Amino acid sequence: MPKIDVSFILLSVLCLIVGIGMGIVMGAAHDFQFTPVHAHLNLLGWVSLALFGLIYKAYPALKTSWLAKAHLILSGSTAVIFPVGIYVSIAHENPAVAIAASFVALGGVLVFLANLVRVFFFAEKATTIADEALA
Ligand code: HEM
Repeated sequence: MPKIDVSFILLSVLCLIVGIGMGIVMGAAHDFQFTPVHAHLNLLGWVSLALFGLIYKAYPALKTSWLAKAHLILSGSTAVIFPVGIYVSIAHENPAVAIAASFVALGGVLVFLANLVRVFFFAEKATTIADEALA
């Protein structure tokens, strides 16, 4: 999937925009009960997704497997659904969505690990874009 890096980075910035908006509203209202929602939207959404996108950009061989698309679906969806689950957990004392999403989030990272192992240990070329530019 050639645009996997771009997809991760665009989704991460959408999470950052919502996360910052939420931070501003929380600060203005002096109401911090949903701080864990804001924190996880920024960290699972902005930070983790952007990092995944940059790693796919750095190691193009990671993009050549269906594992990359599976990773985007799992980690991309849970970056949004997990914070929503935390919100439901705090507002309605029902942690079911957060618990389910946390296992999907773990699944996404395990798929990413499988892809890393495939490229770093079994692929013919695990070169970075910097290596390719120098070659
Ligand atoms: C302009 C952007 C942002 C604003 C206005 C903002 C605002 C806030 C506010 C009002 C709190 C609650 C503080 C409290 O409970 O006393 C908070 C907590 C937090 N924010 Fe942000 N935030 C912003 C960006 C970010 C970003 C980019 C990240 C992560 C990459 C982040 C991660 C966190 C974390 C982890 C906490 C929890 C800290 C704790 O409970 O000790 N925030 N933020």
